[in-house]
Amino acid sequence: MAVHSLFRVVAAIVVLLVAIHPDRAASASGRGGFGLKSVDQGDLAVTGLCSCATILHAGYKCQEHHVVTDDGYIISISRFPEGRNGQGAGGNKQPVLLQHGLLVDGMTWMLNSANESLAFILADNGYDVWIANTRGTRFSRRHLSLDPDNKKFWDWTWDDLVTHELSATVDYVFKQTGQKVHYVGHSLGTLTALAAFSEGNQVDKVKSAALLSPIAYVSHITTALGNLAAKAFVGEITDLLGIAEFNPVGVPVAIFLKALCANPGVDCYDLITEMTGPNCCLNTSTVDLFLKNEPQSTATKNLVHLAQSIRFGKLAKFDYGSVKSNMEHYGKATPPIYNMSNIPKNLPLFLSYGGKDKLSDTKDVQILLDSLRFHDVDKLDIQFVKEFAHADFIMGVTANNVVYNQMMAFFRNHQ
Ligand SMILES: *[C@@H]1O[C@H](CO)[C@@H](O)[C@H](O)[C@H]1NC(C)=O
Ligand SMILES: *[C@@H]1O[C@H](CO)[C@@H](O)[C@H](O)[C@H]1NC(C)=O
Ligand SMILES: *[C@@H]1O[C@H](CO)[C@@H](O)[C@H](O)[C@H]1NC(C)=O
Repeated sequence: MAVHSLFRVVAAIVVLLVAIHPDRAASASGRGGFGLKSVDQGDLAVTGLCSCATILHAGYKCQEHHVVTDDGYIISISRFPEGRNGQGAGGNKQPVLLQHGLLVDGMTWMLNSANESLAFILADNGYDVWIANTRGTRFSRRHLSLDPDNKKFWDWTWDDLVTHELSATVDYVFKQTGQKVHYVGHSLGTLTALAAFSEGNQVDKVKSAALLSPIAYVSHITTALGNLAAKAFVGEITDLLGIAEFNPVGVPVAIFLKALCANPGVDCYDLITEMTGPNCCLNTSTVDLFLKNEPQSTATKNLVHLAQSIRFGKLAKFDYGSVKSNMEHYGKATPPIYNMSNIPKNLPLFLSYGGKDKLSDTKDVQILLDSLRFHDVDKLDIQFVKEFAHADFIMGVTANNVVYNQMMAFFRNHQ
């Protein structure tokens, strides 16, 4: 029910923006978020996630950090170095880096009460918690030389998150703490980690990785909207829409959604269930808070790349669409693949996936697990949560008991 209302609200907002306030929607497109209307983007970028987090959850110390990637993006990372009211302060704590998924930011790790939200559960259990915010989301919209209004700011896909951003954030936490990190990813945050590990990157700085709603192979996404979106996101979409930034609350995206929703079989009044699956355990007040903070922008090119993975059924780097262009970028006619079998067999991995998840379909997870079949058995911990869909892993009120406890037990086993 909560999920239904979430999609209704999203759909209603999209319709409202387009039908009633076309000029307001246009101005929103540079902001990348809604619900924080009184604070402009510049302030948000400076104050960052900490200011939102500490308003919601008093009693936790929060530090803002900034990491510059080697392609010039200034990434905001927030750190919770100790538990509630200074509990367990000091000492040489184990760092954990949390990486969120697509179209959201680091706030998604703290939308429930402190006892139900992973960020605070980890802090209260003695971990040194670091929360990354992907380029393009509200706290990470700065670059050494590019402005978000510049198309070049949005010239990236998840390949670039693998090569430039994950490497920068993991390296930063590693150097700041002098320790290898436990990595926690959700959704796209699992894909980037798996892709990096498969190329042997970051494995020397990561103690283990916990992957929630793991995404690697995506050819079994069967939802009508997902399929349609995948077909629509062909190479020319950037030109068609005239946008480089995919802002879910902006006008061009609303028009695009409206066109998709006109197709038979697509129920846009239930957009979120349509996209993520029937989440079992979302609290209505959490969903309201989610809507005040999300969704966030991504690059249209990033969605084009994800759509390629759905259409081509393989996990490869971005396809530039012609032999000539691929030759220029890769020295090959087709983009190189990411081979999951090349992930080092002794890297501790915890995978938790849901039976109702429409983005991380169980058939696709099976393909991933199959490619990990030679992984050291004592380094691979697999959890299947029958009733969970995509958002339950980060916002479900039972995720603490069902998933996070087992994740922390896994961390203890791989110290
Ligand atoms: C949260 O957990 C702490 C420690 O386990 C407990 O003392 C507190 O009562 C819990 N708070 C709520 C609201 O459940
Ligand atoms: C849902 O959220 C409300 C408000 O934060 C809270 O009072 C309630 O206990 C939550 N329900 C569950 C099951 O966590
Ligand atoms: C992936 O790597 C494995 C082991 O290194 C190899 O056997 C397999 O053929 C590779 N798959 C592809 C599609 O190249």
